[in-house]
Amino acid sequence: MKSEKNIRIALLGFGPVNRSFAEILADKGEGLYQRYGVRLMVTAAVDSTGGALDVEGLDPGRLVKAKGFGSVAGYPGKGQTGLQGLDALARSEADIVLEATTVSMQDGEPGMSHVRTALSLGKHVVLANKGPLVRAYQALQSLAQDHQVSIKFSATLGGSLPTYNIGVRDLAGCTIERVDAILNGTSHYILSSMNTGVTYEEALVEAQRLEIAERDPTLDVEGWDAANKLVILANSILNVPATLDDIERIGITHLKPSDLPLTMLGTAIRNDDGGYSLAVRPERLPEDHPLAALPPLSMGIVFHTDLVGPLAMTVNERGPKPTAAAMLRDVLEIAVGSRR
Ligand code: HSE
Repeated sequence: MKSEKNIRIALLGFGPVNRSFAEILADKGEGLYQRYGVRLMVTAAVDSTGGALDVEGLDPGRLVKAKGFGSVAGYPGKGQTGLQGLDALARSEADIVLEATTVSMQDGEPGMSHVRTALSLGKHVVLANKGPLVRAYQALQSLAQDHQVSIKFSATLGGSLPTYNIGVRDLAGCTIERVDAILNGTSHYILSSMNTGVTYEEALVEAQRLEIAERDPTLDVEGWDAANKLVILANSILNVPATLDDIERIGITHLKPSDLPLTMLGTAIRNDDGGYSLAVRPERLPEDHPLAALPPLSMGIVFHTDLVGPLAMTVNERGPKPTAAAMLRDVLEIAVGSRR
């Protein structure tokens, strides 16, 4: 870290999640400083058309305002149309890079290059973007280790649900026999709405209005987003080097009202050999299942273990701010560690 008190942050991507992160800093930055003794300074912010850069710190409220007019490149005096993530990253003097660009299922870009470059430059990385982790979880962990920096991604496992911390820290010593998870808010919202008679199309439009759907909602409704999360969960919590090819995936677009009620569920079931069978598909949950009555804008997970459980967690999320809060907890863990 550059200094004990100032933590410089680069925001790569300024969609709903990093924009919400900036809103949180605008609202609570001073309070966080009082509470944790670290000043979280945004020194770069980049969206798809440009960026803003100032190693002395940008005003997060002004970034949000500039974005409201189209792009952070409109930031007064410090904005640059055409500024790219890698360039901003190199010039930002950032200690921590927050990667929240759009998920790419093709090549993981631009997130992959952002993450690799940041780690190689000795910067910590906090991800909301699942793409790079899904494509190269093990390689990115090795790169982080080689450069003695952290790569954190608790926001990729169901918004603000503390899936990672519970799975890795609090279930230490347990064998996880089975995981049931509703980790894609959009498909859960759509199916919950359809279960009450709303049409698929109406529910999808509302999920988009609430900014929980991906820019390309196919990722949500065809199960890719849930499958991505399951890959990251498998690698990080179950300790199996799973890829998307290991996941049975069925989306929700083919469903008819007569098929309902159904829930879009991700499951990991431990096999006798210690491996896991992984699936994402619409399922009918028994009435007494801990996730059976999960409200429409919620996500949830149940860990079944040998020593503890079933341990169930749910969260009711409206919009992207809770995911930004998950990035904040990762940032604070890096910046403050156990002093929290
Ligand atoms: N589109 C995702 C969801 C949010 O609906 O849960 C980001 O993971």
